[in-house]
Order: sequence, then C-alpha cells, then structure tokens
Amino acid sequence: MEHAGLFITLEGVDGCGKTTQSKLIADALEAAGHEVVRVREPGGARLSEKIRLMVLDPGNTDMCDECELLLYEAARAQNVREVIEPALKRGATVVCDRFYDSTYAYQAAGRRLSADMVRMANQLGSCGLVPDVTLVFDLDPSSAFGRAVQEGVDRLEGEGMEFQRRVRGGYAELAKEDPQRVRTVDASGSVEVVYSRVVAALRDIVLL
Ligand code: TMP
Repeated sequence: MEHAGLFITLEGVDGCGKTTQSKLIADALEAAGHEVVRVREPGGARLSEKIRLMVLDPGNTDMCDECELLLYEAARAQNVREVIEPALKRGATVVCDRFYDSTYAYQAAGRRLSADMVRMANQLGSCGLVPDVTLVFDLDPSSAFGRAVQEGVDRLEGEGMEFQRRVRGGYAELAKEDPQRVRTVDASGSVEVVYSRVVAALRDIVLL
C-alpha cells in the first residue's frame, strides 16, 4: 500500500506504558506541524470499537481462540480501510497503539495458535499495510501488570503472568526477525526517561 504519510505503531505487554508515550509522541509531532492521527487497536473506526467491546469483555469466557483472532483482524481491517489508510494517503502521521504485531505476540506466542496461520490472518486484517516503524515497550510483566490491574482487568489481561511472559517473548522474536522496523525500547523508569529513549529510537525516522 503506497502512502505519503508515516505509520508508527506502539507495542508491548499490558501495562507497559505505551499509551502515555503515544500521547507524548503525538503532541511533539503536532507541535512540529505534522497532522497526527492517533488510533488504538482493537478500535479506531466505529465498527472496530464495537468489536473491541466484544473481544475484551471479561464475561465472554466462551470465546474460542480462533474467534478471538478473527475479531481482532475484523476490527483491524475496518480501521485500516476507514481511518488509517485515508490518513496516510493524505500525508498524515498515524500513531497506532497496537497493530498486527500484537496479534503475533498475543494470539501466536500467547495463545499458541499456529504462527503461520496468524501471519496469514494478519496479512488479511491489515489489508497489506506494513508499519514504517514499530516501537516495542519492553517491561517485565510483573512490573507492567501492576499498572494494568490498577485500571481494571479486561479479558486478555485476565490471562495472568505466564501468558504475559509468552507475549513478551513473542515481541522479542519479532524484534530479532526485523530489527530495522521493530525497535525495542526499555520501558522501565519514569515517563520522561522512557520518552528520551523513544526520541532516540525514532531519530532516523522523525525528529521529536
Ligand atoms: P489495550 O489494553 O492495549 O487497549 O489492548 C487490548 C488488549 O487486546 C490487550 O490485552 C492486547 C490484546 N490484543 C490482542 O490480543 N491481539 C491483538 O491483535 C490486539 C490488537 C490486541
């Protein structure tokens, strides 16, 4: 998918602090005169936000892993076609809180669905769109989880620490596979310290 804009995605285990960092990145880019569109996954487009409610509802204990995978992909396709793709085409910078690397980390590494199947599903759900750069906020789940729990636990967060550890391992695999796109940021320390690492990690792509 050809586009004039810049597509930045933020990743990490639950409670890693990426949402706070995404606000800081968006504010800095706006201050520098960029048009910035901030979105989250699952979510963004109207239909995708409806799917979000379903997929994260802790009451949906009967949801099978394949259904979960396809709901994330369905939410993503709608978000790409309705929100992300048009923004990138008009030259905006899109800062997206989670994208298909989450599906690899959570549904392949976390749930242990077949990695090949998840990659195929990702191809469909993303409509072929690839992030220009991805920051993985790396934090030991035992520190990260404390932050997440304070905000109330959704269905995925309810999976517990061992699951989050597998998710972290999934991100590490992705960073090893494609270090140019997938950049790991140490997410320990204060918001300011982590943000300075973000600025350094993006330096060759965009000046914050
Ligand atoms: P959030 O809490 O960062 O908004 O993300 C919602 C939850 O959904 C989080 O626990 C990660 C999970 N998730 C997946 O399992 N697969 C995906 O493809 C995405 C986008 C999120």
